[in-house]
Amino acid sequence: MRVPAKTLIAAFGLAGAMGLSAASAAPNWSGVPAKDVALFYPGQSSWEWVLTETNHSGADKFRAGKDCAACHIGDEKTMGALLVSGKMNEKAPIPGKPGSLNAKVQFAHDAQNIYVHLEFAEGNQPNAKMDGAHATKVTMMIEDGSVVEANRAGCWGMCHEDSAAMPSAGGSSRTMYLPKTRAHLTAQGGGDALKSADELNKLKASGYSVEYWQAHLNPGAPAVAVNGNIFDKRDETKPTAVTAEATYSGGTWSVTFSRKLNAGPGFVTLAPGKRYTVAFAIHSGHTAKRFHYVSFERSLVLDQGSADFVAEKK
Ligand code: HEC
Repeated sequence: MRVPAKTLIAAFGLAGAMGLSAASAAPNWSGVPAKDVALFYPGQSSWEWVLTETNHSGADKFRAGKDCAACHIGDEKTMGALLVSGKMNEKAPIPGKPGSLNAKVQFAHDAQNIYVHLEFAEGNQPNAKMDGAHATKVTMMIEDGSVVEANRAGCWGMCHEDSAAMPSAGGSSRTMYLPKTRAHLTAQGGGDALKSADELNKLKASGYSVEYWQAHLNPGAPAVAVNGNIFDKRDETKPTAVTAEATYSGGTWSVTFSRKLNAGPGFVTLAPGKRYTVAFAIHSGHTAKRFHYVSFERSLVLDQGSADFVAEKK
């Protein structure tokens, strides 16, 4: 088990002498405002599914400009219970799986780095045996307004009817992707036919890409961070720009991500005065692919402004 930095400091008073890494310079979270974010099991409810009025009575209003969160925050527990049960949009329910969970989320930054802290209890999770290597994976997506679909629908901007383990996958291992990268998008998804290289380059140059951070977690082992982007597919970026630290105690995970505010080309630049969309996913009980919990989209600003989260400077 990794000893939290706070404990080391209290026990040895050595924080300065130990050359602690960026993640260990994270603020004392007890002084940072926290918000609850509910995550629920979405089953196979894809971008195409939610945009189809015959499936989903919110489709027309979403098309007319009302975002998912505006209708659904507060519904997650009920939605998760319905979807995890197999009564709707789920042909392979995992017996005994809880339908939702709650994460306490905090953001802060200093001159160099942004920090994100999530605390959550997973409840009684059956072992789905889909991912033998990781008990739990925590993911955050972040986007700066350049991807309208993710801006308005968070993770649903990337989740398609024909991605792996979705209804129209046809055995494909297709990952998440952004709608505008496809030549055609139908109710079955966009398939593998992309727009021309020229059009894709223009999209990319306009910032049309979603960044994700992920922590791989096993109780008693150090967290492992990965990060990447979703464009025409999910691509992991190396070297990893994100750090993750985690502790597990009494059934509760406490996870801290950090990365430089400005991590260079290919990364969302984080600065005061801009508005970001974030959303969260948690794979619990050795699950993979779509068998996760997801949140609706939340807004983030640095220092000041009206948003779900205001990351204050420490
Ligand atoms: C105008 C309000 C509204 C908006 C916007 C909206 N929804 Fe819905 N959604 C509903 C209602 C009402 C239901 C209940 C079932 C029904 O009548 O279709 C629902 C049902 C669902 C369900 C099925 C689970 C359930 O509890 O019935 C999912 C999943 C869902 N919405 C996801 C989304 C996503 C993702 C977005 C954004 C892309 C979104 N919704 C936008 C109103 C909305």
